[in-house]
Amino acid sequence: MKKEILALLKRNPGEYVSGEDVSHQLSVSRTAIWKHIQALREEGYQIESQSRLGYRLQEVPDKLYPEEVQDGLSTNIIGQSIIYYERLGSTNDLAKVLAAQGVIEGTVVVAEEQSSGRGRRGRAWASPGGHGVWMSVLLRPKLSPANAPKITIMAAVAVVRAIERVCGLKVGIKWPNDIVYKGKKLAGILTEMSAEIDSINHIVLGIGTNVNVPLEAFPEEIQEKGTSLLIATGQQVSRVAYLRALLEELEVAYVQFCTEQFDTILDGWRKHSVTLGEDVRVEGIGEVLFGTAADIDSQGALLLRQKDGEMVKVLAGDVTLRKEDGSYC
Ligand code: BTN
Repeated sequence: MKKEILALLKRNPGEYVSGEDVSHQLSVSRTAIWKHIQALREEGYQIESQSRLGYRLQEVPDKLYPEEVQDGLSTNIIGQSIIYYERLGSTNDLAKVLAAQGVIEGTVVVAEEQSSGRGRRGRAWASPGGHGVWMSVLLRPKLSPANAPKITIMAAVAVVRAIERVCGLKVGIKWPNDIVYKGKKLAGILTEMSAEIDSINHIVLGIGTNVNVPLEAFPEEIQEKGTSLLIATGQQVSRVAYLRALLEELEVAYVQFCTEQFDTILDGWRKHSVTLGEDVRVEGIGEVLFGTAADIDSQGALLLRQKDGEMVKVLAGDVTLRKEDGSYC
């Protein structure tokens, strides 16, 4: 009922809706309406009430509430169920628990703040409250585990498109999954999988985007390397609009992925890549390689042309680009 009252107020922007109308349209008592209005106020909705005129929605809070994100969301799979927390350890961790409990594909877990957000290779991911979009999506693709890295490639393309859609910023992808702007990291992707030898049980796709993170909210050691949409554009970006766009772009890419149109996704990835054609240093598992990033293959692996001309395939690692002075960043 609370959702319906909110929807009714939203359908009448800037106008009062009388208690009588609400009561009549939603078949609810005036006392119940008052209680729901109070609950909405506690969630941060600013609702004015005037004794003769009724209720008027003045302001929606800057929160990633499911009903806000789902308002106008055009997906069929991703985000049909959204689980929201003010504060959570890690959205990936909760998504894994929910996956084991059998929740539907496309379920999204989102938190305003993560107390132990995780990055790739055991690193921490700073997730300050109310500034970013820290979310995980549960996917159950009917594919073999070898295809899992493609999910990360797919997600990177979706993130870039969502960012461009909401604030017009053209950002790059650094292999495999760093979203960067002017060499600084804007968003990261952590893909985790549960699988049998020949089939995927589920994938948890975690995406952290620094949307409105001010410089001082980053831990000191990240301030040099990290950035946000706020810092890059000089403007606050609606986190709700961004999350909605991200879910929509993820769905477009996921449908392509599931219908064997991965080449289309790869084309999108290549278009936004800041890695291809560059001289790079790749810190892989237990080895460091140098060479020119020639391409990515159909599995999402980086093809590195070494000095002697030999082409090596890198499945996982951290890439830094060679600068003019010969250093890597
Ligand atoms: C990286 O670039 O190292 C990956 C960062 C991934 C961070 C996101 S935030 C939402 C989800 N929950 C986590 O604990 N991590 C991912």
